[in-house]
Amino acid sequence: MLKATDIIDDTNPLIRTISEPVELPLSDEDRQTVMDMVDYLVLSQDEEKAEELNIRPGVGLAAIQIGIPKRMCAIYSPRVDKEGEVTGVDQYALVNPRIISYTPKPSYLKNGEGCLSVPVDVEGKVPRHAKVTVVGYDAITDSEVKIVARGFLSIVLQHELDHFDGILYYDRMNEDPNAPIPDAIVID
Ligand code: NI
Repeated sequence: MLKATDIIDDTNPLIRTISEPVELPLSDEDRQTVMDMVDYLVLSQDEEKAEELNIRPGVGLAAIQIGIPKRMCAIYSPRVDKEGEVTGVDQYALVNPRIISYTPKPSYLKNGEGCLSVPVDVEGKVPRHAKVTVVGYDAITDSEVKIVARGFLSIVLQHELDHFDGILYYDRMNEDPNAPIPDAIVID
């Protein structure tokens, strides 16, 4: 099981590493790593357990954030409807995911992004694509997947895939992080 102390933060230069592609078929070790990452996210969203273990809630985690420079990430992102009710969850243990297409239309999270490797939130708008199509191997379903993501999931995927290239969310902010982003879809 991963612990909060396994996660490196942005003061560690390793976080800027360009991660390597993962060899397929997936080794037992790599499978264990990415599944442990999913488990960590699930745990992080259990308020009681998260408090007990002193871990912050997260919806995505890339392998480099636990010091492993491989292109793998976990996603565990509850789907919420307009009334704030949870209607499901987007969960993936992605291996070598990549964006194959995106819309030029921008979007950003109204309340800004957060990252388990950035201990203090950096406020501001992070411009992202409103819609991305991602392909990769998913270790949960043991299959190649094609994810057409809009809204919150689209942002989560772009954030995680950025980690593979050593990019943190605040790198993407404009010089004035509060300046309007023309034509953008604002995601609550
Ligand atoms: Ni992050």
